Amino acid sequence: MEGGTVGVIGLGQMGSQIALLCALRGLYTRVFDSVEGVPEHFQRWAASYLDDRVQKGKLDPAAAEQARTRLFIEKRIEDCVRPADYVVEAVVENLQAKQQVFQEADEASHRALLFTNSSTIPSSQLVKGLRSPGRVCNVHFFNPALVMELVEIVKGPHTTGETVTAALEFARRLGKTPVLLNREIRGFAVNRVLDSIWRESVYLVGDGVISPEDLDTAVVKGLGHPMGPFRLMDLVGIDLVYSTQEAAYRETGEARLAPSPLLATKVNKGETGKKSGKGWYSY
Ligand code: 3HC
Repeated sequence: MEGGTVGVIGLGQMGSQIALLCALRGLYTRVFDSVEGVPEHFQRWAASYLDDRVQKGKLDPAAAEQARTRLFIEKRIEDCVRPADYVVEAVVENLQAKQQVFQEADEASHRALLFTNSSTIPSSQLVKGLRSPGRVCNVHFFNPALVMELVEIVKGPHTTGETVTAALEFARRLGKTPVLLNREIRGFAVNRVLDSIWRESVYLVGDGVISPEDLDTAVVKGLGHPMGPFRLMDLVGIDLVYSTQEAAYRETGEARLAPSPLLATKVNKGETGKKSGKGWYSY
């Protein structure tokens, strides 16, 4: 399907993959990141990803070229948002940063649907002071977003039925299978499940019961998961895992939800996973 414009704000791991996915699926894709050098890094990454897919015979050269021509790097957030039918916010997992993006997006356009890819922040925390909060909801992708089929749509109390329908349609258009959460809940659905696996795994290793490698082997061979929890934490980012667990603990005060000290140590040492070259494994 061709046509339609999306603005993607934030070109980290998730934003980059979401943007390229949109371009591959026929959307004109305008991207913005305020951090110096990040848009250029995205451009190089996207070019090399498309080349690799063509070389592997997984992507038609013409389709790769079309995706390239549908990607536009913008220097100002308003140029990313104003022409857009949909905006996907994928900036750093920080409430103030996301609120700022939503304020600016709201000022730049009164018609674009505004989606947040946050894994922890429900969209009701982002709509204060916006002109039309009805067009806002969570559209949560999974890492790596080019590959993982699921998208969680989370309806906030402010989200209109039309926005939910459009978000479901947007996800399907990207070739994803959406599931709908009818109300906001801490951790949404999938991360609630995943988080308990991560928490138990880190405590087992922290208590000296098993090594990360053997725990991963156990979960892959014993439960049929495609990847063990430690490999997956490295992929997602140990800092994100830590901040998610820390937020859950802060919000509920439940001791059982406190992140393991071992997780805090990894973050303090800067061993945040694949992106830093070292996490539970070395890269
Ligand atoms: N980016 C893009 N494509 C990737 C990729 C990446 N980082 N990693 C793998 N792929 C692609 C490969 O190119 C390959 O595509 P092809 O078959 O069309 O050539 C395909 O995925 C399979 O890759 P591999 O053969 O190299 O390796 P695997 O079969 O082990 O698959 C995996 C890799 C898809 C990452 C698989 O291990 C997996 O599904 N792991 C679990 C991932 C998961 O659980 N994600 C959810 C994390 S939670 C989350 O994101 C929520 C957030 O809020 C924290």
